[in-house]
Amino acid sequence: MPNTLAGKAALVTGGSRGIGAAIVRRLANDGAAVAFTYAASDDKARALVGEVRAQGGKALAIKADSADAKAVQQAVSQAAEAFGRLDILVNSAGILIAGVVDAYDLADFDRMVAVNVRAVFVATQAAVPHMGEGGRVITIGSVTADRSGFAGSSVYSMTKGAVASLTRGLARDLGPRGITVNVVQPGPTDTDMSPQGEIGERVRSLISLGRMGKDSEIASLVAYLAGPDAGFVTGAALTADGGYLA
Ligand SMILES: NC(=O)c1ccc[n+]([C@@H]2O[C@H](COP(=O)([O-])OP(=O)(O)OC[C@H]3O[C@@H](n4cnc5c(N)ncnc54)[C@H](OP(=O)(O)O)[C@@H]3O)[C@@H](O)[C@H]2O)c1
Repeated sequence: MPNTLAGKAALVTGGSRGIGAAIVRRLANDGAAVAFTYAASDDKARALVGEVRAQGGKALAIKADSADAKAVQQAVSQAAEAFGRLDILVNSAGILIAGVVDAYDLADFDRMVAVNVRAVFVATQAAVPHMGEGGRVITIGSVTADRSGFAGSSVYSMTKGAVASLTRGLARDLGPRGITVNVVQPGPTDTDMSPQGEIGERVRSLISLGRMGKDSEIASLVAYLAGPDAGFVTGAALTADGGYLA
């Protein structure tokens, strides 16, 4: 078991399934105590906590809807209190409500912004007072910040462009405190969120490696950014997309 994150404490938003769950597993495997939030998947969250603990790790599941700023702030406090510190924040919670512009519901637009963008700001604002020199803020953006890819993805792409810009600004705010802030931009990755059917096939045909990414392949980039080797990396957007943008 690599021990690069021994003694560190992490909070991962949206950790019950998909990429977030892979990040929880990876950070715990690298030695960090890991809290994670989720919105609905009680059984999956419980099972993941059990899995990490069975391997000798520390995990804590916190039910907190990212659309609710108070719930996000409380989740950060709860994680910091439970572990006595907070070194790493990974903003992974995200939703995809697709739709072309003239059929897009404004309530869906607001929910997308609340979960995919505002919650990233709220969690970061709540987490940094707990962090010292060496702190890490990592957000899961998307290659859609750079390539929309298909019709109906304008709002999702906008939210991922927003967190990429937010990351650069936060890196400027927090650099003087020794806290790094980066965005990981996955390409199409095999999770419940990945496009299926005709769009799925079209997306797959645009990936140089001819396959979707695995959640663990995104988690390994997060583990790098969270670890000591990435001390001079901040304000960066790191892409893992199998050559989708190539
Ligand atoms: N899959 C891809 O192809 C892909 C590509 C690029 C970027 N991404 C990004 O990667 C991140 C993870 O996506 P994924 O593919 O792993 O999605 P996923 O399989 O749908 O999992 C989403 C996770 O986020 C949680 N979540 C959703 N809404 C939430 C809310 N309001 N409050 C708290 N937690 C919430 C879910 O919790 P519950 O189980 O409780 O609902 C779940 O743990 C997202 O930011 C996504 O935009 C994904």
